[in-house]
Amino acid sequence: MISHEAYSCEGWCLRETDLDLDVLAQSESLFALSNGHIGWRGNLDEGAPYELPGSYLNGVYELRPLPYAEAGYGYPESGQTMISVANGKLIRLLVDDEPFDVRYGQLHSHERVLDFRAGVLSRSALWSSPAGRTVRVSSTRLVSLAQRSIAAVEYQVEAVDGPVRLVIQSELVVNEPLPPGSDDPRAAAVLESPLRSEMHANDGARAELVHRTEQSGLLVAAAMDHVVDGPDSTHVLAESFDDLGRVSMTVALEPGERLRFVKFVSYGWSAVRSRQELRDQVDAAITGALQGGWEGLLAEQRSYLDDFWARADVQVEGDAEIQQAVRFALFHVLQAGARAERRAIPAKGLTGTGYGGHAFWDTETFVLPVLTYTVPAAAAYALDWRHSTLQPALDRAAQLGMKGAAFPWRTITGAECSSYWPAGTAAFHVGADIADAVVRYLNATGDTDFEQKIGLELLAQTARFWRSLGHHDAQGRFNIDGVTGPDEYSAVADNNVYTNLMAQHNLRSAAAVAKRNPDRARELGIDGEEMAAWCDAARDMRIPYDDELGIHPQAEAFTAHREWDFEGTVPAEYPLLLHFPYFDLYRKQVVKQADLVLAMHLRGEAFSAEQKAANFRYYERLTVRDSSLSACTQAVMAAEVGQLGLAYDYLAEAALMDLENLEHNTRDGVHIASLAGTWIALVAGLGGMRELDGSLSFAPRLPEGVTRLCFRVLFRGRCLQVETTEASTSYSLLEGDALQIFHFGDPVTATTTATSCPTPPPRLLPGESKRPTQPAGREPTLRSGRRRTSARKETP
Ligand code: BGC
Repeated sequence: MISHEAYSCEGWCLRETDLDLDVLAQSESLFALSNGHIGWRGNLDEGAPYELPGSYLNGVYELRPLPYAEAGYGYPESGQTMISVANGKLIRLLVDDEPFDVRYGQLHSHERVLDFRAGVLSRSALWSSPAGRTVRVSSTRLVSLAQRSIAAVEYQVEAVDGPVRLVIQSELVVNEPLPPGSDDPRAAAVLESPLRSEMHANDGARAELVHRTEQSGLLVAAAMDHVVDGPDSTHVLAESFDDLGRVSMTVALEPGERLRFVKFVSYGWSAVRSRQELRDQVDAAITGALQGGWEGLLAEQRSYLDDFWARADVQVEGDAEIQQAVRFALFHVLQAGARAERRAIPAKGLTGTGYGGHAFWDTETFVLPVLTYTVPAAAAYALDWRHSTLQPALDRAAQLGMKGAAFPWRTITGAECSSYWPAGTAAFHVGADIADAVVRYLNATGDTDFEQKIGLELLAQTARFWRSLGHHDAQGRFNIDGVTGPDEYSAVADNNVYTNLMAQHNLRSAAAVAKRNPDRARELGIDGEEMAAWCDAARDMRIPYDDELGIHPQAEAFTAHREWDFEGTVPAEYPLLLHFPYFDLYRKQVVKQADLVLAMHLRGEAFSAEQKAANFRYYERLTVRDSSLSACTQAVMAAEVGQLGLAYDYLAEAALMDLENLEHNTRDGVHIASLAGTWIALVAGLGGMRELDGSLSFAPRLPEGVTRLCFRVLFRGRCLQVETTEASTSYSLLEGDALQIFHFGDPVTATTTATSCPTPPPRLLPGESKRPTQPAGREPTLRSGRRRTSARKETP
């Protein structure tokens, strides 16, 4: 996509200079704006043509039955699907009675720019109607990061070469028709007209609508108001209907004359508040936004982002596309989490309906590491959301006959929505992933308030779950049988190494945090005996090892399985899940996504350098990367075992996942975890950053072609800058007291004065210099040949 000629490579924006309807669906996702509460897909202002219209509110969903061919005990019975709420982006324009529609007349020029620093999507078009009337249209759209319930559009039309009569219909549309669903399990179920009108009203240039979802019973409100600036003859009329709010503006323009207006839109929803309360809420939000006006919204947006980039920017020199991609990625990760505030961060953020708008372990394992070190408050909110879903997780564990909490594989509200239990219910590692994110957040921030109110309870209830799921065998080893690890091409296996290592960390951390918070531990019913039981289980955790092959099997018996016939599988048969039955995938050695390799990243201290190298090589041969969650982890471990070229290739794959539509489903929304993985591949991969027991270490090395990497991380009240060139790395604190860190294992004291440390010569283990191989046809694209060293042009 980025290699599409309509897209240019620039440091701080994504620019499209031609409208190619073949890539419209992807562009709607790429240009989506969100603040984590509201999500507006990048649809054209006039609404058509479109591929997938979408306006979302985090947490607004409808229920749908989950049908089973054969029922079974404990199967989730009801699913949740994120639905589109009122489309407040819509601005229809009629030029002398002809709708502005790029499929008709002539589009002389078109440009859209997503500006990562200003936080706006701007568009300009020069268009002649079929009757030959020419207008210049420009719009700037934002979803406010500062005012959570507000989105706005500034819209201008100018008559170019003759007088025109304009009618503009600025709308709020509910229950827009959606394109039919697809068979791809990663797409969403389509629900027709999920919202029922409760009230509508209009006044002046304002209209508002309140609706209710039929089954989930949520009230959803939207309001819009306009500030119009046009010739005196401009006439404004507001109307409202069940599913439509409309403000029409009519005006006659002479050449060079313009109509400009700002549309303010506010959204709110509630499962509890009344219709009047909700209407007042959206009215109040609009009034607040009108007070500061458009300029105020722009200024707040810029200042929010200035602050973000000052802490979070990653500079990459030598590869202009990766530079652009990492900022694009960070922008979307921020958008997904910034104002989610005790709501989930879905796998696609609020950029599309992929996976039904569900959140998965993606959040804790891929997104929260980025937010923890750049916007820690957003990470705390996301974990607070998990905490708010503890009751359904306790209920689910009880239903499964277990103690503690069984967090769902996929969900919006906290209830399990996966009807496919082998890769849903059985993927119990999600509990340990949540615990890992809690520990990471605590170690990075030292937030004792969070530890007491939220952290300990999450750790304890997940530890309880592991203690009841696993068992000590006759040899005293603690086994966790019948689980599915991250690799969804293996299921219901015994002692999955990733799961066991993460559970071990979970159990130990729960005991340690309970010990330092005795009062809170008592409140949660944790006693000395229970803590001892957690520690015993952690100590005795079974970690299978294949002595003959000298590697860790992903799970018990994995290495005894037959290998997948990679040679006999053609490129069109990937992803395998769409072309082969699961029963066959399950009984062969084939890996969908990093599993054992992810364990080596997140629990690196549990492996020797030799084991890491041997394991990495072994699993490279088997990993097909049918999930976008894999490349970044492979980048991290490739870098650690000294395969820098390969690390670079995987970094590029994670970074370009959406910009190049590598999984062919960017239309359903961007892959937030893979975007977050861009940061992970750069910071944990090339930068070698690890955090263990509250201390940070780095091992930065650059692949050939990347000449400089500079990033910042927030840690314990400090902002640490790490700047690497081929020969050395300099560490400095932008703020805060001296901090001890490690550079290739040696202690370094970082202060506000930069300390430069030389890069030691690479040390490849004997026999490890050869690049590991991947399944035929699944090799990552070589970055070296494709790299663009400088940006085509820079924005001022
Ligand atoms: C992956 C899961 C992931 C989900 C949502 C699946 O394809 O295998 O690990 O959680 O997508 O991103």
